[in-house]
Amino acid sequence: MIISPTEAREAYDVARIRADFPILARTMRGKPLVYLDSGASAQKPRPVIDAESNVYETEYANIHRGLYYLSERATEAYEASRRTVQRFINARHAHEVIFTRNTTESINLVAASYGRRFLQPGDEIIISGLEHHSNIVPWQLLREERGVVIKIAPVGDDGDVPLEAVTRLLGPRTRLVAVTQVSNVLGTILPVADIVRAAHAAGAKVLIDGAQAVSHLPVDVQALDADFYAFSGHKLYGPTGIGVLYGKEDLLNAMPPYQGGGDMIHTVRFEKSTWAPLPQKFEAGTPAIAQVSGLAAAIDYVTALGLERIAAHENDLLAYATRQLAAVPGLRIIGTVPHKAAVVSFVLECAHPHDIAQILDGAGVAIRAGHHCAQPLMERFAVPATARASFGLYNDRADVDALVAAVQKVEEIFGR
Ligand code: ALA
Repeated sequence: MIISPTEAREAYDVARIRADFPILARTMRGKPLVYLDSGASAQKPRPVIDAESNVYETEYANIHRGLYYLSERATEAYEASRRTVQRFINARHAHEVIFTRNTTESINLVAASYGRRFLQPGDEIIISGLEHHSNIVPWQLLREERGVVIKIAPVGDDGDVPLEAVTRLLGPRTRLVAVTQVSNVLGTILPVADIVRAAHAAGAKVLIDGAQAVSHLPVDVQALDADFYAFSGHKLYGPTGIGVLYGKEDLLNAMPPYQGGGDMIHTVRFEKSTWAPLPQKFEAGTPAIAQVSGLAAAIDYVTALGLERIAAHENDLLAYATRQLAAVPGLRIIGTVPHKAAVVSFVLECAHPHDIAQILDGAGVAIRAGHHCAQPLMERFAVPATARASFGLYNDRADVDALVAAVQKVEEIFGR
């Protein structure tokens, strides 16, 4: 059952929403699937699955090349999807939306293009202590090549990175602040609008990693005044293999291409080539044509439900899960700030997170256990790994009850 915007204004009917996600009807190890790993990748609703297969069934051809009807239709659909993304994040121009493979590629694009062109040895980049590896390693690669300095805003015991943790590091050599909006491990929401204001006052640009934010919070890149904003389709109920880099027009225009190839050129001569204007300059080669349509369908889906309403639903689940889990003997939640998105990371005194995940799997409950691509954060909290339940718009209280019952069982097995 597909939800119309009018219906969406009515009460948040999670049972009805779940029916849009075919995979949620399946069993796992003989149990109903309880999917609590949306932070790693979210499941896909029927409109997203249909949008992608419709492209292949009805309007597939390569884009920006063909002088025939089908290619023109495919090109129009692709560029219409770009405008859908533009509206979703409130970019000033559609050509400020660059399609990439994912958040990781978006950040690598900025590091390789902006970083190599504009950063000099001794220039400083500030990141926070709770970044995903994809917002650490690209800057380390740049450090090896260009001699930039990376400074780390520390994480508090509650998992917070307050504004002052960043502003204290700002100085005359700061060129870039690259921070996540929502921690994939702890759910902490960073004060990115304040960080942007402070960084701009110090003359630095800001890149925001929005991979974990766009599915939980309304994002307005103009209101944030972000210079760059990166996110992935697959965590937003859309396809894999498609991501977005938003960049301010003047910055993107000043940056050299990231990759060379077809579609990104104006003219090619053996002596010298010139580049296409935005956004093609950054979209070398045949792009993810069908996935872009799937991403637009995902955006339409969450927009029809309303991100505020999704956030309210998820916050209720987060509070419910936090209360119940905190009552399990020997369980410690890591990341306790009040401003959190719907993620709970925890450890048990009696069992390694991998054992927790394995026992939960037997109960049909899918969570992630490990370092969550954030090894420095694990070190900060002196744990090798955590167990992490991350919630999406389709989870309900029954999912939380199944999680808590399975965690209690782990405690019974290992805690004796
Ligand atoms: N970055 C994804 C996660 O947090 C894969 O699980």
